[in-house]
Amino acid sequence: MAAVDCIVKLGGSALTHKDQLETLRAGAVQKAAALVAKLHGAGERRCIVVHGAGSFGHFQAKQHAVACGSSTGSAVSPRLRQGLCLTRLSVTKLTHLVTDQLVRSGVPAVSISVVIQLKPFGTWKTTLKNVSQAGIDTVKDVLDSGYVPVLHGDCALDLEQHCCILSGDTIIEILAQKFSPRRVVFLTDVSGIYSCPPDKPG
Ligand code: IPE
Repeated sequence: MAAVDCIVKLGGSALTHKDQLETLRAGAVQKAAALVAKLHGAGERRCIVVHGAGSFGHFQAKQHAVACGSSTGSAVSPRLRQGLCLTRLSVTKLTHLVTDQLVRSGVPAVSISVVIQLKPFGTWKTTLKNVSQAGIDTVKDVLDSGYVPVLHGDCALDLEQHCCILSGDTIIEILAQKFSPRRVVFLTDVSGIYSCPPDKPG
């Protein structure tokens, strides 16, 4: 498989005001897109962008406990289904805005979602929250065709608990294993990588 130059993670907290429902930090999105455009323009053509959800998706997911899914063997509640629908609507709004800015900045960006990809249904799946099937072929096809795939933290269909939340960081872990990029760059609103939110004690 041809090497990937770079995977860029745009953190949800950097792109959005995390405590205000569906509120974009437009300036931050512009800056991040300009940076990806610069990388791409400098010859890093095989580049993958992954972004978080921030205030798009987290509220809906929390309200409907989408991350917990449904207990094995029990019927999926209409409330959980609605939560998954609302969470997806919200994260796909953000990915539209991010991809729009990337394209305006000159990056040939194409958005790929986890639940419903370019192919009709769910090529990324989890089993008890662990990725058991990853849509690598779609990402590879998009890259090989000369486009920059844009993926994002998303809901995934789970073989045991109906659904769960798949974070952008987990997606990156899988992509890094499969594509062995020369580097992975994390753009965040904090100066480092933390094991829990840096404003929380410990
Ligand atoms: C969460 O994705 C996806 C949801 C549907 C809630 P991430 O975990 O990658 O998002 P951030 O970076 O923490 O906002």
